[in-house]
Amino acid sequence: MDHRGIEKLIGDLTLKEKVGQLTMLSGELVQTGPASAPVTSAAIQNGEVGSLLNLVGSERVRDAQRHAVEGSRLGIPLFFSLDVLYGLRTMFPIPLGESSAFDPALWEATARVAAEECAVEGIDLTFAPMIDIARDPRWGRTLEGPGEDPLVGQRVAGAKVRGYQTADLASPTAIAATAKHFAGYGAVLAGREYASVDMSERLLHEVYLPPFKAAIEAGVACLMPAFVDLNGTPMSIHVPLLRGLVRERWGFDGVIVSDWSSIAELLLHGVAAKPEAAALALNAGVDIDMMGKGAYVEGLPEALDRGLVTMATIDEAVRRVLLLKLKLGLFHDPYRRCGSPEAAAATARPARRALAREAARKSIVLLTNTEDTLPLDQSLKSIAIIGPFGDIVGGNSEPPPVERVANLVDRIRAAFPKATISVAAGSNVEQPKEGGLAAALQNAEQSDVTLLCLGERVDMAGEASSRAYPGLPHAQQELAQAILDTGKPVIVLLFSGRPLIVPDWLAAGAKAILALWHPGSEGEGAIADVLSGAHNPSGRLSMSWPADVGQIPIFFAERPTGRPRLENEHFSSKYLDIPNEPRFAFGHGLSYTRFLLTNPRATKSTIAAGETTEILIDVKNTGVMAGEHTVFLFIRDLASSISRPLLELEDFTKVMLGPGETRTVRFALSSDQLRFLGPDLEPLLEPGTFEILVGPSANPAQLQILEVQVRPSSR
Ligand code: GLC
Repeated sequence: MDHRGIEKLIGDLTLKEKVGQLTMLSGELVQTGPASAPVTSAAIQNGEVGSLLNLVGSERVRDAQRHAVEGSRLGIPLFFSLDVLYGLRTMFPIPLGESSAFDPALWEATARVAAEECAVEGIDLTFAPMIDIARDPRWGRTLEGPGEDPLVGQRVAGAKVRGYQTADLASPTAIAATAKHFAGYGAVLAGREYASVDMSERLLHEVYLPPFKAAIEAGVACLMPAFVDLNGTPMSIHVPLLRGLVRERWGFDGVIVSDWSSIAELLLHGVAAKPEAAALALNAGVDIDMMGKGAYVEGLPEALDRGLVTMATIDEAVRRVLLLKLKLGLFHDPYRRCGSPEAAAATARPARRALAREAARKSIVLLTNTEDTLPLDQSLKSIAIIGPFGDIVGGNSEPPPVERVANLVDRIRAAFPKATISVAAGSNVEQPKEGGLAAALQNAEQSDVTLLCLGERVDMAGEASSRAYPGLPHAQQELAQAILDTGKPVIVLLFSGRPLIVPDWLAAGAKAILALWHPGSEGEGAIADVLSGAHNPSGRLSMSWPADVGQIPIFFAERPTGRPRLENEHFSSKYLDIPNEPRFAFGHGLSYTRFLLTNPRATKSTIAAGETTEILIDVKNTGVMAGEHTVFLFIRDLASSISRPLLELEDFTKVMLGPGETRTVRFALSSDQLRFLGPDLEPLLEPGTFEILVGPSANPAQLQILEVQVRPSSR
């Protein structure tokens, strides 16, 4: 089969079969949307469906594929798809956790392993990466994304697309990636899932679109519009963005697949009835109707009869779907990804588990470490592990809760062989535990140190899981307060799918606090590695952690306003009752060693349009332990025709340093990076003075500043 064959095939297809190719139904082995009846073999044989989701496993996929290839009139193969955002069998940290590693090579490597595991269990396409920028921790899908900053989002997008797809979609371990959810989904009203999104064109183009452009530039095969309406237009029918920007301006000729029943939901949005909904979505460029309750199957034939769509537009969509199947090699071998996972896993498992441990280690963020309490001393005689650990850690990995508790105990015991380990839940995740507090207090009283495991179950974040108060449930707060009241040293291990509100008394009372996210298959081992000092933590927050829910949305790239907060100025931008600053800034993360940044300098302090300078800074490890440091490069345009943020992230890099070692970190900075979107939302470079700010986080107190001038271009 080749392109000519595709054209011939399109000519042979009936309208019903064409619409079938534009229909994706669920195999219902996994549930990721409102329950529905699984696809039938009759529907496949009748050509009523062109692709499936949520069916995984070589034999199941082989059976379904056989109905298409051998049972349907033209034998067009299906493709099979699944959400694989952080691993299929080897589970990696949730994406928000992994983004804290600030390590594109790692991001690509974990996607590669996920793809390898998919490509032997019948999966041709994943609905990942999720690259929705999020600045509101109330929104549950923060879990799935790259955090608050568009540059990080762009780098995650590129790394993940390369990892899933490789350079050749037809290669046996490549799977197609999907950039989702286009666009602005992370800014839902009040952080409430599926709510409307209202934002300026400027904010959309400066913050929420860049990761999708990066994914398309990396060659992503598919794109998925978000459920939401953006300024009143549901994304599934947003012609200016889907047709005008994505297809025409960015040149995306891949497949656009709707999110679960979002075309049918146009009726609920109040913008269309079924034939019109189908016509609006198809004309906007949406090729596949996922679980659309017949939106395309029933709507398109009537829309065609009524002249709401043309056959040419239908053929255009069918062509993209068939070309995707051609690129995936499915015409050549429809069963190519129905491999033998056991054989593959046996050989690859050790390396994959090692990668999972590395990813979990690099994602852990040391938030506080009073009096260098961590790493714990090997001389400890007794350690209490307290908290509803079984339910809150590793929810994104395979073992059940009871095994996870045993696994953590085993890993901690292995790391501290001289210590007696006690375990007590103390509380349930959201409710007190009958008698639990007394047992936990007794263990804490009798132990040298308590590891207090707090946070969220993995199902308290993610889709359909917004929380108005993204903090610790009251029962856990009571437990924590009681354990702190013993006066014994307490190390807090936070497990979450989002930034959590850490109360003042906990931030002050704990000897150390670690953000562990949901760390995946090797999370417990990584935790033991950090607690024992076998791994020096290097994770950094990719999202600001608010001090109070009243600060939300909170992010570093705010504009200065005309009345920036001044300490003793009543009439300045602040609250009466809470601080402006987050509890922990973007980029925050401690190490067991110390780093000193000195001597920031530019190779050229004045550049013109088209020129590049280099920003250098010396980084010294002044401690006694090797460690990896992440250095951020921000800019601030001091005077421009459009007010610019206080900080704009332009680059980040990591440097590993031995004790006492100094290295010079170098950033290329081009005039292009000093541009902003002008009044017409086109990139614009204005001459003037730019502050260049370099440091370990977006905390202004930690940034070193130099200036670069952009000189007017000569007439
Ligand atoms: C869900 C999600 C989307 C996912 C799709 C298929 O509703 O919004 O991210 O890819 O359905 O599972």
